[in-house]
Amino acid sequence: MCGIVGYIGNEQAAPILLDGLEKLEYRGYDSAGLAVYDGTDIRVMKATGRLKVLSELSHGGAMLPGCAGIGHTRWATHGMPSDTNAHPHFNKDESIVVVHNGIIENYLKLKKLLETRGYQFVSQTDTEVVAHLLDYYYQGDPMEAIVKVMQRVEGSYALGILFKDHPEEMYAVRKDSPLIVGKCAHGSIIASDVPAVLKYTRDVFFIQNEEIVRLEKENIAFFNIDKEEIQKESTRIEWDVNAAEKGGYEHFMLKEINEQPKAVRDTLNPRIKDGRIVIEELGMTPEEVAAIRKIYVVACGSAYHTGVTAKYVFEGLARIPVEVDLASEFRYRNPILDEGTMVIIVSQSGETADSLAALREAKKHPGVRVLGIVNVVGSSIAREADHVMYTWAGPEIAVATTKAYSTQLIAFYLLAIRFAQDRGKLSEAEAGNLIKELQRLPEQIEMLLANKERIQRFANRYVAAREIFFIGRGIDYAISLEGSLKLKEISYIHSEAYAAGELKHGTISLIEEGTLVTALLTQEDLYKKMISNIVEVQTRGAFVLAVTNVGNTEIEKASDYVIYIPKTNPYFTNSLAVIPLQIFSYYVAIGKGCDVDKPRNLAKSVTVE
Ligand code: M6R
Repeated sequence: MCGIVGYIGNEQAAPILLDGLEKLEYRGYDSAGLAVYDGTDIRVMKATGRLKVLSELSHGGAMLPGCAGIGHTRWATHGMPSDTNAHPHFNKDESIVVVHNGIIENYLKLKKLLETRGYQFVSQTDTEVVAHLLDYYYQGDPMEAIVKVMQRVEGSYALGILFKDHPEEMYAVRKDSPLIVGKCAHGSIIASDVPAVLKYTRDVFFIQNEEIVRLEKENIAFFNIDKEEIQKESTRIEWDVNAAEKGGYEHFMLKEINEQPKAVRDTLNPRIKDGRIVIEELGMTPEEVAAIRKIYVVACGSAYHTGVTAKYVFEGLARIPVEVDLASEFRYRNPILDEGTMVIIVSQSGETADSLAALREAKKHPGVRVLGIVNVVGSSIAREADHVMYTWAGPEIAVATTKAYSTQLIAFYLLAIRFAQDRGKLSEAEAGNLIKELQRLPEQIEMLLANKERIQRFANRYVAAREIFFIGRGIDYAISLEGSLKLKEISYIHSEAYAAGELKHGTISLIEEGTLVTALLTQEDLYKKMISNIVEVQTRGAFVLAVTNVGNTEIEKASDYVIYIPKTNPYFTNSLAVIPLQIFSYYVAIGKGCDVDKPRNLAKSVTVE
C-alpha cells in the first residue's frame, strides 16, 4: 500500500526521499511524487508508473533542491492512477503540502463543505480534502490546524505535512496507518516502514494513534491531540540492513523462499528448551490454557490459510474447537465471543486493516483473550493484542508471502502442542516426538529447495496455462488454498483450490483435456480417497501433478508427474508441501515475464479496508 518518506536536515532532501521510496516499493504503488521546499517555495513533481520515471524526471532529485521534503508512492483507492491524483497534494495557494496513507471515509461530505466555502479540487482523491481542510483551519499555528483536521476527518491516515511559512519544521500524524520517525546524524526522517530509514538510523519511534510529531533538523517532539508534549521511547531495529536487500538473488521472492529454513529455525528454536515447548511471551498458565473453550483464528490471505491448517492441528492435538474466519467477514458478522474464547489474529505486517479491526472487535468482549501472531515488531496488531507471539521471519519484502507464511505455521504447531499438553491431551513422550519432527523441518525444507531445478523445468511447461486447479483433503486442502493463491497472485493465471471431495458438486465440469490439476496427498489416511478423485479428473482429460510423501511410489501409475516431500508427522506436512508449490508459482510467473515481487494491483501491507 502507499509509502511515505519525509526528511528535514542538512542534506538535499529529494535523493533521500527517492532512496527511501525505493525501499518501500515492495508495498505496491502506481504513481509517485515529491515535494521539496527550495528556500522560497514548495515545489512538487509527480509521475505515474514506477519510481524510476520520477527519478529520471527529477534527475535523481537534483531538479528539486532543498533540505526539507516529503515523498509518496500511491496505490490508487480514490481516483485512477494519474499524475494529478498522485501525492503530494497542495492547498489552494501552494503553501501547505500533504502526503497521505489510508482513507478519509467522510471525504465527500468534507469536500462538499469545502466547495461551498470556495475551495476548488483538482484531483479525485480523498487526500486533497486534508490539504484544503488544513488551509481552512490554518491561522499561523500548524499544530492547531492539524488538531482541528484530526477532529473532523474519519477513517485512517498517516500524514506528512510541510507548511511554507514554517520552513524549519515538518509535521507527521497518524491514525490506523503505520508511521515511524527516526533521527539521524544529519537530520530527522519519517517513513511508513522501517526499510526506508535503515540506511540512516536503527533507532526508530513508532507513532501511536492520534500522536502528532514535529520534526526539525536537530530535534523531534511528540504531542498528543491536546497539544501536550509527550515522551516516547525509541526501539532499536536489529535487522541486518542486508536483510532488506536482494543479496544477489534476482528477486526478493526467491531470496525469501530460500530463507525459509533459517526463518523456521529462528521461530522454532528459541521456544524449545530441554526438549519442551516454552512460549514465555504467551504469559498464560496451564490452567488458563485449559480453560479455553473455543478458538477463532482470524486473518486475511495467506495468513488466513495458515489458520485453516491450524484448525486441523489444534482440533486434532488439543481437542479445542476452532473456527477460522476471514477478518473482513469476522469484523461485521457479530461473532459469538464469550468468556473462554481465544481470538488469534495472524498477520505478517501487523497492519492489515481488516485484521486490526477484527482484533478491536474481539477486544470489546470481556473474557476474550486476543493473541497476535505477528512478524513486524512494534506493529499495530502486536501492540494492541493481549498477547503477542512473534514469528522471526525477518523483513519480508516480496508481496507474495513465503517465509512469513512458513513461520506462522510453526507458531501454530508450537501453540497446539503446548495447549494439548496443558489440557492433558498429549503425554510428555508424544509431545517429545512431535518436537523432534518439528526440529527436522528446516533440514527437510533445505532438501526440497535443493531440488528446485526439476520443478522449474516442469513450471516452464505451464507458462501458457489458462487455469490451474489445486485439490486436497484435510490439511492438504489448506495447502491447496495457499498453492492456488501463490500461483494466481504472481502469475495472473486463473486458479482455484477445492476440497477434493467437492469436485463432483460442480467444479469437475471445468476440467478439460490438458487442464493441470495439482493434487496434494500428504495425509496417509485420506490417500485412497484422493486417488479416486485423481482418477475422476484424469478420466476427464486432466494432467495431474501429484505432491505426496516419499515412498508413495504407486502414485506414479495414477498421475502424470510426481513431486515427493520428505516424511514428517501428518500435522506438519504443509510446511514441506508448500515449498514446491511456491517454487512452481515463482517459475511460472518468471516464465511469463511477470513482476513477481510487485504483482499488479497488489500491495504488501493492506492498510485500507
Ligand atoms: O500482513 P498480513 O499477513 O496481514 O497480510 C495478509 C494478506 O494480505 C497476505 O497474506 C496476502 O494474501 C499475500 N499477498 C499473500 O501472498
